[in-house]
Amino acid sequence: MNNVMNSPKGYDLLHNPLLNHGSAFTLAERASNGIEGLLPPAVDTLELQIARIHLQLDFLDNDLQKYLILSDLQTRNETLFYAVVMSDPATFMPLVYTPTVGEACQKFDHWFRTTRGLYLPITAKGRLKEIMSNWPQQDIRFIVVTDGERILGLGDLGVNGMGIPVGKLSLYTAIAVVPPHLTLPVTLDVGTNNDQYLEDPLYLGLRQHRVRGIKYDEFIEEFVQAVQSLYPKCCLQWEDFANINAVPILERYRDKICTYNDDIQGTAAVAIAGIYGSLRISGQKLIEQRFLFMGAGSAGTGIAELISEAMVLEGLTIQEARERCWLFDINGLLETSRTDIAEFQKAFTHAHPPCKSFVEAIISIKPTAIIGVSTVPKLFNQQVIATMSKINARPIIFPYSNPTSRSECTAEEAYRWSNGLAIFASGSPFDPVKINGHQFIPGQGNNVYIFPAMGMAVLVTEAIRVTQAMFIVAAQAVAEQVTPQQLDSGLIYPPQSQILKASLLTATKIATYIFDQGLTRAQRPDNIEQHIRAMTYQPKYA
Ligand code: NAI
Repeated sequence: MNNVMNSPKGYDLLHNPLLNHGSAFTLAERASNGIEGLLPPAVDTLELQIARIHLQLDFLDNDLQKYLILSDLQTRNETLFYAVVMSDPATFMPLVYTPTVGEACQKFDHWFRTTRGLYLPITAKGRLKEIMSNWPQQDIRFIVVTDGERILGLGDLGVNGMGIPVGKLSLYTAIAVVPPHLTLPVTLDVGTNNDQYLEDPLYLGLRQHRVRGIKYDEFIEEFVQAVQSLYPKCCLQWEDFANINAVPILERYRDKICTYNDDIQGTAAVAIAGIYGSLRISGQKLIEQRFLFMGAGSAGTGIAELISEAMVLEGLTIQEARERCWLFDINGLLETSRTDIAEFQKAFTHAHPPCKSFVEAIISIKPTAIIGVSTVPKLFNQQVIATMSKINARPIIFPYSNPTSRSECTAEEAYRWSNGLAIFASGSPFDPVKINGHQFIPGQGNNVYIFPAMGMAVLVTEAIRVTQAMFIVAAQAVAEQVTPQQLDSGLIYPPQSQILKASLLTATKIATYIFDQGLTRAQRPDNIEQHIRAMTYQPKYA
């Protein structure tokens, strides 16, 4: 599986991030590769190199600067980068991905030094396959692709959104040990409607407004065809597209190729994992729940749909299940008299009088859970939380908007305003909270519990499709791993300090399901868990 290029030598070797060992090249390696004199004389161990990076990071008190140090390291020496990140995933995840990656993307053009991945501008329409062939690896199994239009909750960042595919793929490796040379970050540049960028001379993308409609669809189709042709075993993960494109693209390709959208399906799975965890605290069943979403975009409808499908597994019809999911957006409750409902929202648009107040919607619908996916901070205010707490013994409160600055409420607010009754999880991390002498550990409904494991499972099985049921299996696997003690402290996800172990267990469950369903091109191994372990990437010098 390892196709790490034809061995470069000399200066080129030191500038090949997959093969560079930097100061850890042994004297013999330096002699045989023609790099004597190109490095200081001492020979480091990997451990010493890791310690040096920790030292450099400890010196900084700014997360963006730490991100830049790590990002430079990734483009210089991938083994060391992953050895550092995997030395303490809980600490490094927020530095290489959310929340830090949000700020890094916003300033990507100003801080630009060097980058990973492929940039495919719409001006190259008709030549995508040729341009993609410039990528040095031939066996690519995972692509994360964005068009930069809805980066986290930050909006249209155009080509600056490249930090997302790069960061996300880093987590596939750091969390589920997917070999990094099999991954490829891609940004499709179809322009940007961000005028601030268009006017900024340092902006690095096409200087034009976004292309829409048929030209855009053709560009996406050409890209999909090129991926299929160049990398037939590749899984294509769509990331941070605006919902007007995200939903139709997923619909167009989900039954044709191995593909998924993490904002829609990964988010949905992690939310359901949190709900399964919450139900272990409240002792209730999924089909006894009613959900009200703040936000009716791709994340909200994606979660609502997967919840409905999970309810079907517990005996409801899909119609009955969808009727337990309600959406509220910038114009109020989605109900049948509204004339601005998009096609993808219709399944969750139910008969109800018009309602513009979220609190009134809560009083009327009596949800057991509210889920914030609006990108707007502070919408879960004291009145909202207090009303939920009046209706429910243990209200489920999930403010999922990212980054932290967009969260619908903080952990402290949810616990304080509910007098410690809330079962809480958020999209971005919050510190533990003490209320009435009880310590609560807020869970982070981070997609990282799902997508790296999904990636590993798809890789080992060479899956031909990524189905909704695979995400439900993943969610159940995550929820099952939370211990009773963790549930006691309010934690409904496995602790992030154990994410590596959790991901491998989740990957094993998903892979088993894929093999059981025959959705695979690979032969079923005797022991799936051992097989996965054998395929994992180790950040060590060969
Ligand atoms: P989107 O842009 O598709 O949808 C946003 C929705 O919020 C729209 O329906 C809009 O009408 C609604 N909205 C905006 N302002 C509102 C207001 N004042 N009151 C009520 N509704 C309002 O965005 P998408 O893709 O659905 O993502 C939403 C958020 O979810 C983002 O912040 C994203 O970071 C977060 N998210 C979190 C994940 C996680 O933590 N696991 C994963 C994926 C997304």
